[in-house]
Amino acid sequence: MRRVGILTISDKGARGEREDRSGQVLRELVQRIDGEVEAYEIIPDDMDAIREMLIHLTDEKKLDLVLTTGGTGLGPRDVTPEATLSVIRRQVPGLAEAMRAATIGKTRFAMLSRAVAGTRGQTLILNLPGSPKGAAECLEAVLDVLPHALDLLKGQTEH
Ligand code: MTE
Repeated sequence: MRRVGILTISDKGARGEREDRSGQVLRELVQRIDGEVEAYEIIPDDMDAIREMLIHLTDEKKLDLVLTTGGTGLGPRDVTPEATLSVIRRQVPGLAEAMRAATIGKTRFAMLSRAVAGTRGQTLILNLPGSPKGAAECLEAVLDVLPHALDLLKGQTEH
C-alpha cells in the first residue's frame, strides 16, 4: 500500500467555485499503484499556503507520494513549481521531462506546464497540470515507474 496525498491548487477550487474533477481523476488513477489517499486538500494559489501544506504532508503525515494539480502554468498566480522547489531537497527532473515528452503528441500545450518533481525526506512530490485531462495524462505517463521510485526512496534497492 502506498500512502498518497492529493493537493489541488486552485483559487477557484478553494473558494468552492469549481468542482475539483482533477483531484477525483487522480484519486482513481493512484489505485493502479495500490495507492491509498490519506490526505486530500484544496488550497489557493498562494506560495505560503502551498509550502506549509507540502511540509505538513511530508514531515508530519509522512506520506509516500504527494500529487499536486494546478498552478504549473504561466498565469500570474501560478507558483506551484516555485513553492515545490523551495521545499524539496532533491529534484527528479526525469519525471517532469517524461511527463512533457510523453504527452506533447497529444497537446502542444504540454510544453507550457512548468511542473517539477522532487523528494523531501521519504516523500516524492510530483506536480501535475490543473486540468483533469492534463493531470491524468501526465500521471499516466510516469505511473508505472512510481512504485520503484518510492521503493528506492525508502532504501529498498533490490530490482
Ligand atoms: N499536459 C498535458 N499532458 N495535457 C494537457 O492538457 N495542458 C497544458 C499544460 N500541460 C496540458 C498539459 C496547459 S493548457 C497549461 S496552461 C499548463 O499545463 C499549465 O496548467 P496549470 O497552470 O493548470 O497547471
